[in-house]
Amino acid sequence: MKLFLDTAFIDQIQEVARWGILDGVTTNPTHVSKTGANPKELYPQICKIVDGPVSLETISLEADGIAAEGRELAKIADNVVIKVPIVKEGLIAVKKLAAEGIKTNVTVNFSALQALLAAKAGATYISPFVGRLDSIGHDGMELAAQIRQIYDNYGYETQIIVAAVRHPIHVLRAALIGADVCTMNFEVMGMLYDHPLTDIGIDLFLKDWEKVPK
Ligand code: E4P
Repeated sequence: MKLFLDTAFIDQIQEVARWGILDGVTTNPTHVSKTGANPKELYPQICKIVDGPVSLETISLEADGIAAEGRELAKIADNVVIKVPIVKEGLIAVKKLAAEGIKTNVTVNFSALQALLAAKAGATYISPFVGRLDSIGHDGMELAAQIRQIYDNYGYETQIIVAAVRHPIHVLRAALIGADVCTMNFEVMGMLYDHPLTDIGIDLFLKDWEKVPK
């Protein structure tokens, strides 16, 4: 499973790239607004650092506008993926962009039937927001599992990005259901390394090493 970082902060992207586990980046308007940076300067920087797909989101709500924005964003770098909201106009735009060879990430996905439509439109990626479903009392990962089953049933090549991840258990469950990608924030990415027994084990080894004659 590929691991994407869900952020627009350059320092976080550089740090995870240093760890050697960065497969891609997903941004959204909220992430960009938190950086305070101008996207015209920010997006090319992100695309340069990341050796993998970088999702940049469109803002228009009608198909021609979304497609036009997508074409402009795609000029920034070869690794740009156009993030498009999963509404009717968005999926019309996805079909146009796909026909032009432009990759898309269909986002804000909350139902398996929406995901079926995204695959039929030719989306490169689908992003079910599992944590936001959990927070209203649903099982978000069940949505991702349903999408996996539907895509496998019919051989759709659209890749599933488990998104809106809140903790490492989401990442584990994403891997267990066979998601193609899991995108997560910097804090969750760091937590994947942690286990209290690992820390205790290392402390014990180091203390014992002090007793070894040198
Ligand atoms: C995914 O691509 C989205 O950017 C992201 O996961 C949104 O989720 P959140 O804002 O609920 O964390």
